[in-house]
Amino acid sequence: MKRLVVATVALLVAASCSGGSESGTTSTAIGATTSTVPGATTSTPPTTSTTVAALEPTYVIGAAGIGDDYYPALGNGGYDVEHYRLDLAYQRDGSVAASAMVRATALDDLASFNLDFIGWDIDRLNVNGTPTLFDRYDGELVVAPVELASGDVFAVEIDYRGTPAPAVSASMPFGIGWSSGPEGEQFVVAEPDAARSWFPSNDHPLDKATFTIAVTVPDGFTAAANGELIGVAEADGTTTFQWSMDTPMAPYLATVVIGDDWAIVEDPVASAEAGVTIRNVLPPDLADTPPAVLETTGRMIKVLESSFGPFPFDEYGIAVVGGFPAALENQTLSVFGRPMVEAPYFEYVLVHELAHQWFGDSVSVGRWGDIWLNEGFATFAELLWIEEQYGSGAYREEIANRIEAARVGGYGPPATPPPNDLFNSSVYQRGSFVLVALRDEVGDEAFFDTLRTYAQQFANGNATTEDFIAVAEAKAGRNVDEVFDVWLYGQQVPA
Ligand code: TRP
Ligand code: ZN
Repeated sequence: MKRLVVATVALLVAASCSGGSESGTTSTAIGATTSTVPGATTSTPPTTSTTVAALEPTYVIGAAGIGDDYYPALGNGGYDVEHYRLDLAYQRDGSVAASAMVRATALDDLASFNLDFIGWDIDRLNVNGTPTLFDRYDGELVVAPVELASGDVFAVEIDYRGTPAPAVSASMPFGIGWSSGPEGEQFVVAEPDAARSWFPSNDHPLDKATFTIAVTVPDGFTAAANGELIGVAEADGTTTFQWSMDTPMAPYLATVVIGDDWAIVEDPVASAEAGVTIRNVLPPDLADTPPAVLETTGRMIKVLESSFGPFPFDEYGIAVVGGFPAALENQTLSVFGRPMVEAPYFEYVLVHELAHQWFGDSVSVGRWGDIWLNEGFATFAELLWIEEQYGSGAYREEIANRIEAARVGGYGPPATPPPNDLFNSSVYQRGSFVLVALRDEVGDEAFFDTLRTYAQQFANGNATTEDFIAVAEAKAGRNVDEVFDVWLYGQQVPA
């Protein structure tokens, strides 16, 4: 009897490891999940492991992390999400009543699985229509017991409510996630780890999904989200705006923007120029008089398309919110703080966030440590815009100035930013110098072919530094390690 139990536990662990190793999960994560499965005596592993042995197939515990060495708690193992449907009812007092439907495919025979979720009160959780037990700890929502066979498509429905607020991030000293501005506007900026602060998710870019986001607001308010506005419905004092994002999206790029008397302003001139629907989400004063620079969005798309290939989505625009001194490239709807829009360098932030639609949103990092693949590329787009506007002399001069600043600033290698300072200046500046140096090394033809091939090959998916280097090498037709050794991995900025 004793021997049987030992053998069964070994089998269980082996099964867990083989499931987890696909996503690089550690045994620590599995152990942590096991100990917190609610009602462990009634669920299968590990206390009733003899029962597990009797089951065919053997059910395993879904891992609590997807295997990202920078942020091990992000994402989960054992399933792949296809679609999120979020219904959010926003009230004037700032509270939100929400319902999330997560449709996923099991990648293992699952006795339990995790979602990432921080805060809020959960009223109800169903799996395939059946009320199911759950437990919560440290940003993990553990759903068990379940019996899902590998390949099963399942739907998790979660009703939850609360008053959303920014959450602590592992990556920076600021709260991120659901935020509010001085005029009561609401907006979500969640990169890299705050999707889980506003909806239960597999919060890692490795698991992209399509989204439907329906936001109900008091009459007179406007609500926007990613993608296309597919419906506006009015009912007893409220309006529901339904948005659809049909191209797979990393959860951290999902957003909602809500404002009193705000407008969704289409720009027919820019749309015609770009061949992409351009619509911006603006507060009343800017809707009346949009910032003049915004009109260049159409031309920016054309210019970036000539370097990166076709714009990856069907629409684009920005939302301008108060009290936010930054900008974030949410898929098809970047969020800009007013200070950025009013700054003399607005044009460069505009082209930067636009470039992220290719590099960051369509091609997303496979691990957060590779963030230079987002920020270095978007910063390089600023240089391309300078070159386009003012010529190659201005491009060279700007690069020389930025390299000097990076040298004086002692920027370390962009390949390995500190996890608690992920968006440091090096990933932006030195990240862009990697591309400048590669372009100088291989010439424009091979270089832009590299960018376009990389954008196309990994579109709607994920890439790593190794993936990019492999494309660069193939297009150069020779080894280009020197460029990466010096600019990406080198401790110091070269003299
Ligand atoms: N990706 C943003 C940029 O384009 C920077 C950023 C990362 C950010 N996380 C954020 C901005 C959260 C606002 C909030 O540079
Ligand atoms: Zn950026």
